[in-house]
Amino acid sequence: MRSYQKLRAAVPQLVLSQEEEEEEDENATTSTPAGRSKLAPWWVGSGLLITAVLLSTITVWVLRQVSRGWHGPAPPSQCYLVPESHRYDCYPERSVVVTQELCESRGCCFIETLPAVGGKRGVPWCFYPPNFPSYVVQSLNQTALGMTGLLVRREKAYYPKDIQVLRMDVEFQTNTRLRIKITDAAKPRYEVPLEVPRVMKRAENPIYSLEFSQDPFGVLLRRQGTGTVLLNTTVAPLIFADQFLQISTTLPSRFLYGLGEHRSTLLHSLDWNTLTLWARDVAPTESFNLYGAHPFYLLMEEGGDAHGVFLLNSNAMEVALQPAPGLTWRTIGGVLDFYIFLGPDPNMVIQQYQEVIGFPAMPPLWALGFHLCRWGYGSSNETWQTARAMRNFQIPQDAQWNDIDYMDGYRDFTFDPQKFASLPSLVEDLHKHGQHYVMILDPGISSTSPRGSYWPFDEGLRRGLFLNTTQGQPLIGQVWPGYTAFPDFSNTDTHQWWLENLQRFHTHVPFDGLWIDMNEPSNFMDGSEEGCPPGELDSPPYTPAVLGNSLSAKTVCASAKQNASVHYNLHNLYGLKEAEATASALIQIRGKRPFVISRSTFPSQGRYSGHWLGDNRSQWKDMYYSIPGMLSFSLFGIPLVGADICGFSGSTSEELCTRWMQLGAFYPFSRNHNTQNEKAQDPTAFSPLARTAMKDVLLTRYSLLPFLYTLFHRAHLQGETVTRPLFFEFPWDVATYGLDRQFLWGQSLLVTPVLEPGADSVLGYFPQGVWYDFYTGSSVNSSGEMLKLSAPLDHLNLHLREGSILPTQKPATTSKATRGNPLHLIVALSPRTTAWGDLFWDDGESLDTFERGNYSYLVFNATENIFTSNVLHASTEATYVTIDAVSFYGVQEPPSKVLLDGQEKPFSYLDNQVLTISGLGLRLSQGFSLQWL
Ligand code: NOJ
Repeated sequence: MRSYQKLRAAVPQLVLSQEEEEEEDENATTSTPAGRSKLAPWWVGSGLLITAVLLSTITVWVLRQVSRGWHGPAPPSQCYLVPESHRYDCYPERSVVVTQELCESRGCCFIETLPAVGGKRGVPWCFYPPNFPSYVVQSLNQTALGMTGLLVRREKAYYPKDIQVLRMDVEFQTNTRLRIKITDAAKPRYEVPLEVPRVMKRAENPIYSLEFSQDPFGVLLRRQGTGTVLLNTTVAPLIFADQFLQISTTLPSRFLYGLGEHRSTLLHSLDWNTLTLWARDVAPTESFNLYGAHPFYLLMEEGGDAHGVFLLNSNAMEVALQPAPGLTWRTIGGVLDFYIFLGPDPNMVIQQYQEVIGFPAMPPLWALGFHLCRWGYGSSNETWQTARAMRNFQIPQDAQWNDIDYMDGYRDFTFDPQKFASLPSLVEDLHKHGQHYVMILDPGISSTSPRGSYWPFDEGLRRGLFLNTTQGQPLIGQVWPGYTAFPDFSNTDTHQWWLENLQRFHTHVPFDGLWIDMNEPSNFMDGSEEGCPPGELDSPPYTPAVLGNSLSAKTVCASAKQNASVHYNLHNLYGLKEAEATASALIQIRGKRPFVISRSTFPSQGRYSGHWLGDNRSQWKDMYYSIPGMLSFSLFGIPLVGADICGFSGSTSEELCTRWMQLGAFYPFSRNHNTQNEKAQDPTAFSPLARTAMKDVLLTRYSLLPFLYTLFHRAHLQGETVTRPLFFEFPWDVATYGLDRQFLWGQSLLVTPVLEPGADSVLGYFPQGVWYDFYTGSSVNSSGEMLKLSAPLDHLNLHLREGSILPTQKPATTSKATRGNPLHLIVALSPRTTAWGDLFWDDGESLDTFERGNYSYLVFNATENIFTSNVLHASTEATYVTIDAVSFYGVQEPPSKVLLDGQEKPFSYLDNQVLTISGLGLRLSQGFSLQWL
């Protein structure tokens, strides 16, 4: 009763009559629906409309406390009632050994359980009792978009600067998306500077319903159609202190994906698995926080529906997963700003997510060609030599890259006047051959060159564009060039300076794309040359489980000052803001679609750059991990992704590199990159057998460029994924939920790589339906089973799903040469002889071709025995590219004749039921039909 009265005093506007109060107390030990309505008299009194007409039911759902006025140590009996899997950690600090005393000082339950194996944290010994004090709903009012409410904490939690009154805004933004934002009611807090869509109207027919628990505060989100509870945050208290924000929820299943960037399986383990999000330069290792931060998860519900949750927060955070199944978001700043996407299909969830963070940019076509790089080309001539060797063997290559070797003293915007003297000529030569040049840039700007000799630093200093210490001096760390300052990309003036630097350099070396590395930002020192000052930013009350146990481990001080806020808040955005500046500079310099690959990423990054998965090793298991890594970035809205093919560090083998080139030929971003002092691993470095296998698979990739390009168009237009896990297309088939050794391009091209040494076959799962061998058209009718496929070293298994039509093109050694070649359509008929496909085509590099209407778009259909190509939009390119052949896979009987727009045409028919009509020579801009009789 005591705490209840406190609530009354603190919340005078919450007027319950005495009578009601007594009735409420009577109901205190039960949770009957009858009790519910009595507990929310203000609900009706405030005129809120609770109506069955609205699919979004807004009710106060009351989980009653067993005892309201509880203080001090939790009675053990209550504690033992909490099953182990449902124990929400009350003492997540890693720096202390939690004792009973410490635990009980927080008012939590302490029960020792068996430690988890392998030094992992298992069931927490210190966990919340069911009645741990939390916020209560003080008021809840309807708004044009949803509702707004005040949440009040009666008793302080145990972190400093606990915020007593919170404001909650709920927006029913669309029928499949809602936003729940909780922040300090009294004063503004840091919020991520991300432009999010403005919603003007409340959703009319939401497919979700939201209910609130008044005391303790909690939300309960349901999917209307199935009644599935997607979120229930009453399972542990909401904590909202200045530097410790925590909210927990149950999950409707264990099928959870996303929450990057980590080296892990695609499907996360919920066995006490904590994922930390704090951008960090480290060779990918399980359970470490890596280069990017993506506070987004996708979850598959029972029955095949999916939903996603995005926490728009850029502070250091961790997400604790537990077998309940349950999840705890734990962040150390900002606000709790959740977007929830109801799908119901996983593809739709990802599209809905990208409607909020932005759809990815359309890459230039050459970005989808093969890229070659290494750290340790000793000179521009050596780099040139490699590109020449590739040409000699006629191995496809679109871009030649340079790592930091090209720089003079590792300083950005310079090139070594001796070793890289021929760099401008090399770039000219690449351009002559229809190829492109990409070079690396690091954010660290050398601060030790003599004044007047290095414009980037002098000018940056003069304009005040670097991160500053708390004392207002540029923060100095150390990267490749030695001591460095770090540009503050949260300042738009820095973007202008970055552009000017790039413009100056471009007049000497006309680069085409940029590789932005080390942008966590990485620092070889912890914090700065002077360490970091004492204070709550560098030593917060709680530090998430970051590698190195300190926010400044191998980066700059969290207290560093930036234009938009302190680095503490902006750290995870460093790579995003640098990418934004870089893409914009490229547009201004080249006037064409920018190509940027960034190591550090944050939600919305896809609008500016792609990503590579960092410093992997030349090991088989690293090759495997690249698949879940790549697929996770599909979920994060960054489709242009790939890993260092053949492995970055360590020594690759011919077999590993051949298999990896096969897999890597199907990374959306396909680049072979290697560290210094390792032997060369580009295709020309191997035996004729391996080299030919690599060349062949690259030619296969190049033959599929029209299809891949179209998938990128669809990603750009509406947030579809380019590579996708099988469960995206077969959400009703639970057997696909854990598959991350195979993947799809779009809806239909299944890639089954070999990921083991010494194999000449591979096991692959084939969801129910007919699948065609991509190369031969032979079919297999799967009932949803694992199949053993032959996989000699020179073969990558590719299968086409029934019902799809793929545009392919005669491949050449660059995308530029390929794009003029004739097309060959492959029609994979379903048993009902239907199929569908499309093609987006444009000049491959101009800005906004779709937005400006400078593109062609074709839709292909097959029904019964008629195929049609319909031109929905045409541009000049479509008048000189031709469709030369169409192959139909799965034509059960040999036809007697084939008609092209009514005219008889010669054809070939093979025993494996493949019908081909070639020599068509039809312009892309010309619709046509084919019929077989
Ligand atoms: C780290 C990057 O991850 C790697 O790819 C690069 O080669 C080195 N930095 C050197 O620049």
